[in-house]
Amino acid sequence: MDIIKKHKIIIDTDTGGDDAAALILAVKSPNVDILGVTVAAGNVSLDQAVKNAFSALEAAGSSAKVYPGAVNPLSGEERETFSVYGNDGMGDAGIVNPKGKPQKEHAVDFILRTVKATPGEVEIVALGPVTNIALAIQKDRQTMLKVKRILSMGTAGFGPGNATPVAEFNVYKDAPAYKMMLELGVPVTVLGLDMDDEPTWTSERMWKKMLKGSPLQVFIAKATGKLLEFKQGNGINALDLPDAVAMATLVWPDFVQETVRCYGSCITEPGETYGMVIFYKEGFTYDSMPKIGTCNVSVVTKAKKREFVKRLNEVLAQG
Ligand code: RIB
Ligand code: CA
Repeated sequence: MDIIKKHKIIIDTDTGGDDAAALILAVKSPNVDILGVTVAAGNVSLDQAVKNAFSALEAAGSSAKVYPGAVNPLSGEERETFSVYGNDGMGDAGIVNPKGKPQKEHAVDFILRTVKATPGEVEIVALGPVTNIALAIQKDRQTMLKVKRILSMGTAGFGPGNATPVAEFNVYKDAPAYKMMLELGVPVTVLGLDMDDEPTWTSERMWKKMLKGSPLQVFIAKATGKLLEFKQGNGINALDLPDAVAMATLVWPDFVQETVRCYGSCITEPGETYGMVIFYKEGFTYDSMPKIGTCNVSVVTKAKKREFVKRLNEVLAQG
């Protein structure tokens, strides 16, 4: 029997409904070893995101440790947004009743201690604002250079934003942190919003089926009911799970079909384009011949998106 080579991952999350789906997908994937879950405020407050993370982990039967991290963005000033996942971030459906208690160790210290202990082996899956990663870089850049890879659900990719027409939520909540992560120099893979498009959406019809499905299908359906309402308000009768799509690129080796090497430039100046990430494609000649930096990111541009909902529910149906 082939020995499965496991990904050693730290999941950094701001635990909303889609983060919960990503956490459960990771827990249920045999090729993943979750070294720990670090949490930052984003979709909801830090305390709520910690509770939500435990709820998802416990629903999936995981005893992974949870490390609380950043309460505010690097700059300290909060960018006002609201949770599309309901006040508790998990559909206000009464499913957040965790038993687990967070570790006393701060998320940043856990990340640095873990990377130092296993240099070149740890992949960080960033599903929220990347403030914890930026704080770790500020505290000990040399150690952070030993991170094997950062997989980020972040940016609008080559499409429109959601926090603003040009900025994606995770970047918008802390653009300076995102810029610091992009410029660190370790391999960064980006799953942008453009890859979270219609083929990956859970239709209302499927959502109703999940509500009558396995305990994990019911859990995720309840956690995303408010998201469905929000999307319906925007004329879309389906919900999206961008963090779970990002996690799919790691747990399903055949899922990604193409990535493009780019120089990613994150806009941190105040104004309408704050939080926008401009991707300059390697080898492409732009008319204005901009002076661009060295390529710092691989952007996912093709994946087996039409298989996502079916494969995710095959996993959720197990538990
Ligand atoms: O823009 C989508 C991202 O912002 C997802 O990670 C979602 O959970 C929110 O954090
Ligand atoms: Ca998230």
